[in-house]
Amino acid sequence: MDELILVKLGGSVITDKKKPYTARMDVIERLAREVHRARGQKDFKLIVGHGGGSFPHQAASKYQTQKGVVDESSYEGIAMVQNDAARLNRIVVDAFLRNGERAISVQPSSGAVTRNSKIVRWDTEAVKVMLSNRLLPVPYGDVAMDTAKGCSIISTEEIFSYLAPALRAKRIILVGKVDGVLDSSGKVVPVISRKNFCDVKGCLKGSDGADVTGGMLHKVEMMLELAGSGVRSEVINGLVAGNLERALLGKDVLKTEIR
Ligand code: IPE
Repeated sequence: MDELILVKLGGSVITDKKKPYTARMDVIERLAREVHRARGQKDFKLIVGHGGGSFPHQAASKYQTQKGVVDESSYEGIAMVQNDAARLNRIVVDAFLRNGERAISVQPSSGAVTRNSKIVRWDTEAVKVMLSNRLLPVPYGDVAMDTAKGCSIISTEEIFSYLAPALRAKRIILVGKVDGVLDSSGKVVPVISRKNFCDVKGCLKGSDGADVTGGMLHKVEMMLELAGSGVRSEVINGLVAGNLERALLGKDVLKTEIR
């Protein structure tokens, strides 16, 4: 079977997190082009997920959606977050279509069920068929129906934590706007494993703007957990042209590896 790679385009790369509802069209377009070029050179299966950035994070923090249903307005919040997340998804899917990829939207909120923010059920049969037909599934950070607290927010990392074992993916690429995970002096930490996690933990912060899913620390912790079952993750800079294409082709890129 061909290798399956899970790529996340971070919300901070594909949107301007400081300006509500602002997509970085030039960046999305270039990343879509890079993916298409890489796919032209090498055969691999791919899922491109993306974060919400300045689209759903606004409503999610206003309605505290990650806390669950807290009052009557929470239901309005669920609907608003879902709509805002889906709006950005259409923009991303459109860009991939324009660049020659058979991108197909996968809406987590209509299939994934969470319990206290962890995905506990999601029928992935449709995604498997998409992959075997060379389609490019595009899931995204979304709201979810939660059996314990009514609703929750699922980040793309949480989505990948569920999909990687379900689809037997062994490689994840997180595309951010810095060169990797940075230490306190701003240098890229080349490798993070259980051994040095405690040392680097203190340097990891959240991100700018309204972010309800916890920034870099949350990402690294989730990826470390996956590393326990043999999934290798990389954090690369998507603002450097050519980085994603090189990473997909297994070429050398400045990055942090989590293993
Ligand atoms: C956040 O998803 C989704 C919502 C707020 C609905 P992510 O956690 O994957 O997104 P970014 O990368 O932080 O924007």
